[in-house]
Parts: sequence; C-alpha cells; structure tokens
Amino acid sequence: MSEVLYRKYRPRKFSELVGQDQVKEILGRAIEKDSVFHAYIFSGSRGTGKTTTARIVAKMLNCLAEDSEKPCGICDSCKAIDASSHMDVIELDAASYRGIDEIRKIRDAVSYRPVMGRFKVYIIDEFHMLTREAFNALLKTLEEPPDKVIFILATTNLEKVPETVLSRCQIFYFKPLIERDIATYLERIAKSEGLEYDDKALRFISKAAHGGMRDAVNLMERVVSYSGDVSEESVRATLGILPEEVVKEFITAFSSGEPASILKISEEIQSAGYTYEVFLEQVIDTVKDQLIAESTDERFKLLLSLWEITKELKFAEDKRGTFEVMVLLKSGYEKSAIERIGKSENVKSEVFETSDKSEKAPKRDTTEENSLSKLIDHLRNNNFVLLWTLLSLSKITRSESGGVLTLEADSNYSYDLLKDRLESLNGIAEDLIGKRFLLSNESVGGNLFEGLDKDSQEYVNFVISNLGLKDDIYKGKIKIDLEED
Ligand SMILES: Nc1ncnc2c1ncn2[C@@H]1O[C@H](COP(=O)(O)OP(=O)(O)OP(=O)(O)O)[C@@H](O)[C@H]1O
Ligand SMILES: [Mg+2]
Ligand SMILES: [Zn+2]
Repeated sequence: MSEVLYRKYRPRKFSELVGQDQVKEILGRAIEKDSVFHAYIFSGSRGTGKTTTARIVAKMLNCLAEDSEKPCGICDSCKAIDASSHMDVIELDAASYRGIDEIRKIRDAVSYRPVMGRFKVYIIDEFHMLTREAFNALLKTLEEPPDKVIFILATTNLEKVPETVLSRCQIFYFKPLIERDIATYLERIAKSEGLEYDDKALRFISKAAHGGMRDAVNLMERVVSYSGDVSEESVRATLGILPEEVVKEFITAFSSGEPASILKISEEIQSAGYTYEVFLEQVIDTVKDQLIAESTDERFKLLLSLWEITKELKFAEDKRGTFEVMVLLKSGYEKSAIERIGKSENVKSEVFETSDKSEKAPKRDTTEENSLSKLIDHLRNNNFVLLWTLLSLSKITRSESGGVLTLEADSNYSYDLLKDRLESLNGIAEDLIGKRFLLSNESVGGNLFEGLDKDSQEYVNFVISNLGLKDDIYKGKIKIDLEED
C-alpha cells in the first residue's frame, strides 16, 4: 500500500459517497436543473465527506462530457480536479491561511471568467478560522456574487460562523456515518486491497470511528500496518479492546450477582488502562447480539440495567466507584454497594455517618436530624439510584444549626440534572417529612477564576468557548429547610 488508503478511496462521484443522501439529492437536482446557488456551507464533523462532496460538485459543474453521466471522471476537466490541478477550482485551507491577504486575492480574482471550465469553484476548508477582517472581505464578495462563481465553505464548527455569512449561504449538514455503512465501505476497501478481514473486526473499527469515515479508514490502515491483516485479534491489539472472555465473564458475574468477580473485573479494567465506558459499550454489544439470537426477559432486563449504568457513568466523576456501585446494585447486591459508597472518595460519606451514628452522636438529637435520617434511610432502602445520583452530582451540606440541608451542584451541568430530578426527590420528601427542596440559583460565576493566574484564566476562557459552554457558568444550590415550624 503505497498511497494512503483514505486518499486512494476518496469517492469520485455521488454514487460512491456513503450516506449524506439529502445532500446528494438536493445538490444533484440543483446541478441538473442548472440552478446552483452561489454560496454553500458544508457543516459537519471530521471526515464525513465535505471536501469530497465539494470536489464532486466542482467536477459535475465543469465536466466536459457531452452525453455521459456527469462527472464522467475521464475528461480533462474531471482529471484535473481529481489531481487538484484545475485552474478554476481553487482550494484554500483557512486553518493555515486565516488572513485578509488570501481573501483579497480571491476577491480580486473572482471577477475574471473561468479559464478552463464553466464555473469557478472556491472551496474554503475550516472557514470559521478566518480572521474577522477576512470574513468581512469574504462577505463583500458574497454580497455581490459574480456570475459563474461558486463558493463552498466547509466547517466543523458552524457555531463560530457569523450570522451575516450564514444568511447569505445555503447550508448543508453532513451527518456522522452509521456503523453499518462504514463497515460495508471498509469491506469494499479490504476486498479491493486483497486484505484478510473478518466481520467482527470491521464492526469494531466502525464503532471506534464514531461516525467519521476518514478515521475509520485510517484505523483500518493502522491495524493492517501493525499486524498485516484485519482480524478480530489484530483490531483488539491495536485499538485496546478487552478480550471477549472478560466480557462474557462479566455478564455471568452480573447476571448471577457475584460481587467478588464483579470487583475483580473492575480492577482488571482499571489496571489495564481501559475505560469503563468502552467496556460497557462492548458488554452492551454482546448482550444485544445474544438478545437477537435468543430473547429472554432476563437478557432484556440486563440490557436495560446496562444502559442505565452507562447513563449514570456519564455524569459521574468517580467512574470506578460509580461503575462498581451501580453494577453491584443492579445485580442485587445493595449491601455491597452501600459499603462501597462509604469508601468512595468522591462521595461525601459524612451524610451517611451522620445518619448511621445518629444514636451515638453527642446529644443534638433534634427533629431536624431525624428528618434528614428519615429521608436518607428511605432513599437508601427504596430509591438507591436517586440517592446515589444526588450524591454523585452534588455536595450535601448542612447548616451549622442543622436546620438547612443544601445540595450544591459542582457545575451548571450537574445543576440542570439536579433540577430534573428534583420532582421525584420532592415527591418523596413531601410524603416523608412534609418538606420540599427549593431551588436557589446562587450564581458564583465570579468565583470561576478565583486564584487563577492570567494565563490559566485565558486558558479556561478558551476551553469554555471552544466547548461551546455558556460563559455564565454558575453553581446552583438546591435547599431544603428542615426546621419544623
Ligand atoms: N461519506 C463518505 N463516503 C465515503 N468515504 C468518505 C466519506 N466521507 C469521508 N470519506 C473518506 O474520508 C476521506 C476524507 O473525507 P473528506 O475530506 O471529504 O472529509 P471532510 O468532511 O472534508 O473532513 P474534514 O472536516 O476533516 O476536512 C475521503 O478521502 C474518503 O476516503
Ligand atoms: Mg475537508
Ligand atoms: Zn468529466
């Protein structure tokens, strides 16, 4: 394999492009009817076909074939575009050329007629990276679109594109590709490269690519260069997927509730450096396969539990602790789970101590403390998942007098989740102690940068804006007043 696989197998016409049906249909029809728009935005995650589609469009518009289907792929124009040497198809990577000069060059050049073909096509990759000046210069061109010039602006970060530009373009959304389609495409490549492969291996790769075709093809290439074929074992070795036996072992342990082996496997996952999320994904896949082969109530319940655990894990800070507690809990070992909670560092076990030792505690046996114990005991016995969630999402504190119980979320994300679960919590609290938790949204946004030097503040800002987080980060509090009135 001398050429990088993903380049060698770049689709050259719409029929070869996987997925993106809507894009193909709408663009195909517009080109056929000769009614193309002057500016398109291709938005979507990495390696889903934006640049590929842009080049196909350029070929369709400029193909010289008389009566065969376009793009023919063999005329001078098609060949030149495939080789990136067409005079009228200009590709610019805004990630490396962000500035005004490049855009000025474009602005000056657009008024000249196409040299080789019918249309001039400007493809600007990652165009959200353009500087403000460059954007404004581009905007001028988009406002007075010259005849026979088409802009295709590709981006992985649509939210960074100014509204002024958006409103002048037609936007296409490139979707992440589905695993089955990726696997089929990989199989085609494997066949044509004469590679040995098995289906399981292709499935693993497709899954690991998270919807990106370039990533999928590159992963496959990595596997091949590592072990010469695309077998299940090669993929496991290259991608770090736990052997199937461990997964099977786990399913058995889970179904029959063997805490010792559950904890042993958890230990194994951690020490081998795998993530709990990836492991659960693997387990879920296996259970799904089993369910397809033979569906029993028990398997179905198992699948539901696994999904629930996955969901909890997503929110948890202490992945291992949450994994173990949830698995033990779901496999019927509530007691082990409670013991584990006591040990988990991230959980403020203080609450448990308070309630457990309430008899021994130095005399402060007030009604408030009883209310708190009542509530926690009730949750522990009847809705452990809710209790666990509350504990993993928030810090629980009690006021000096013991009268006010506060659940303090550590991020706006947790706060939103707490809010979501407040209703079910209040249902219980009301029945039990005749009280409700109240939301008190105390913004502490100003404290976000407390104690950080300037560089770190900039960094935090950068991270926040790049993750698309709201900049009004707050920590919310949810309070309950335990004092009897
Ligand atoms: N929809 C698809 N069908 C088939 N192959 C694809 C598809 N999307 C991407 N590929 C493969 O991935 C490679 C890269 O695709 P392309 O350059 O079009 O991605 P992109 O969306 O422009 O990604 P980026 O955002 O990173 O620029 C192609 O050469 C091709 O091998
Ligand atoms: Mg691209
Ligand atoms: Zn052609």
